[in-house]
Amino acid sequence: MIHHQQGNQPGDLRPLLRPVTLGGLELPNRVVMAPATRCRADPATLTVTGRHAAYYAQRASAGLIVAEGTWVSEQAAGRYPDVPGIYSPAQVAAWRQVTSVVHAVGGRIVLQLWHTGAGFGPGPVPAALTAADLRAVVRDFGTAAGRARQAGFDGVEIAANGTYLLAQSLHPRLNRRRDGYGADRGRLLREVTDAVAAVATGLNRYPDRDAVALRQDLASYLGHGLTVADVRLLPAGAIPRTTSGKLARWACKARATSS
Ligand SMILES: Cc1cc2nc3c(=O)[nH]c(=O)nc-3n(C[C@H](O)[C@H](O)[C@H](O)COP(=O)(O)O)c2cc1C
Repeated sequence: MIHHQQGNQPGDLRPLLRPVTLGGLELPNRVVMAPATRCRADPATLTVTGRHAAYYAQRASAGLIVAEGTWVSEQAAGRYPDVPGIYSPAQVAAWRQVTSVVHAVGGRIVLQLWHTGAGFGPGPVPAALTAADLRAVVRDFGTAAGRARQAGFDGVEIAANGTYLLAQSLHPRLNRRRDGYGADRGRLLREVTDAVAAVATGLNRYPDRDAVALRQDLASYLGHGLTVADVRLLPAGAIPRTTSGKLARWACKARATSS
């Protein structure tokens, strides 16, 4: 839930600089740094380094930092080189250094959880994931959310945008599955969201389940005779909110219950 608060000065003409409560997070201003892949992780271990700590610390005066898309598992990794992960103990420890520095200088930081899906793996021809593979994906997102908590993040954002796994699953032209994940294109995203939200609430670390956000990119679906209503397959009760004022980027609150 977003709670709008009054600025310190009546008639304040700088709404961007007014505080706001986003989920359980008190943001001193409404500037949210978008996630930006920088391909700077250690190539051998995909751990973040001192460069990440410096980079995010320099931006800690933002109301909220959404840290770069980060692999939820080894299988989630795409072609992008040197993108960090959150699936090994070393990666968790390295991210912990980053969140500690950001918090020490007064910032707030959430982690974007990413899985690239078909077409981005090492093999020449993308193979459809089996139902067992998809169950593993759901588990991996939940585990990654728990590891993000251990790493000191203030929340997580599920990357369901771009051309990656969760967006592929939602897309009526890309998702040609004949099983339940094809009949109900929102199923994978709901299961992932529920797994992440369950971890976020169950571990009692994030202030509330609103510490889970979902990023969708509807622009790529439009212009093909599809409407927003066709593609807005969000978890039951989820409330879409624009974060940039554009259709291209929607964030919504994830609810732990699915339909
Ligand atoms: C170099 C670069 C890296 C990006 N990495 C990510 C990413 O990891 N995750 C993501 O959701 N978006 C990523 N984006 C998209 C940005 O978050 C943002 O949406 C984009 O720059 C457009 O800005 P706008 O949404 O304010 O129009 C990236 C963009 C750029 C230019």
